[in-house]
Amino acid sequence: MYKDIFKALREAALVKNNLNTRKMNHEEVPIPQKPYPEDAQLIALPEPDYLEDKEVSFLELMELRSTVREYSERPLTMKELSFLLWCTQGVKMVLPAGATKRTVPSAGARNAFETYLYIDKVEGLEKGLYRFLAFEHALLPVDLGDGVKERLQKGFNKINMYDASAVTFMWAAVLDRMDYAFGGRSLQYLYLDAGHVCQNLYLACYTQEIGCCAIGHFNDEELNRELGLDGEEEFMVYAAHVGKIR
Ligand SMILES: Cc1cc2nc3c(=O)[nH]c(=O)nc-3n(C[C@H](O)[C@H](O)[C@H](O)COP(=O)(O)O)c2cc1C
Repeated sequence: MYKDIFKALREAALVKNNLNTRKMNHEEVPIPQKPYPEDAQLIALPEPDYLEDKEVSFLELMELRSTVREYSERPLTMKELSFLLWCTQGVKMVLPAGATKRTVPSAGARNAFETYLYIDKVEGLEKGLYRFLAFEHALLPVDLGDGVKERLQKGFNKINMYDASAVTFMWAAVLDRMDYAFGGRSLQYLYLDAGHVCQNLYLACYTQEIGCCAIGHFNDEELNRELGLDGEEEFMVYAAHVGKIR
């Protein structure tokens, strides 16, 4: 029964006293970004701060932010993509022990996510699977070959939305980065952290007339496999489709 599993998970995560939940007893500090080949051809993203925000009041943002499930054929610009990536995972300060201050809050500043992107419609970029390198503020091409769109599609149930979107964000957690500090409470923090990331995506999209839909319903096995994740040490947590508003 799934409720028994939930109970066991809750039990493992419970904080039963007011002591700090941090453990930090690993010998090795986890690296704060998944490595990539030295000879990889990175794609530098433009500075996000040159992008002109639409004039949006905070109140308007609160009132009018809404999920958008239909998108125009128009591509995003590189600057817009750069802005969305900065707002969701931008690194502002590097701290000791693999922690980072970013544009989103994260438990213990662990920031345990890697952002994978299926890019379909962005000016100047080939269609394909990429990974965002938050420290370099650059894209790492992962798979630009034929058939990648179709393979990833198996991970999503609302295929029309996936097809029409300009970019699909896929956030995967690297468990060790959170576990280093929080042990049994890590899973809880990973899912809480993911909410902040996607909320920033919604808000950033609104300022640029880009639509966004959070996706919690995806096929974990298919996406983990297609992203090359083992499903244990690194696994899919959350996704979102974005595209220009019609
Ligand atoms: C954790 C989470 C998971 C979601 N998963 C999906 C999803 O798999 N498919 C979908 O179409 N919408 C999904 N949504 C969007 C919600 O359906 C949407 O936020 C909700 O209907 C409220 O609408 P609003 O965002 O316009 O306020 C998800 C939203 C959240 C916060």
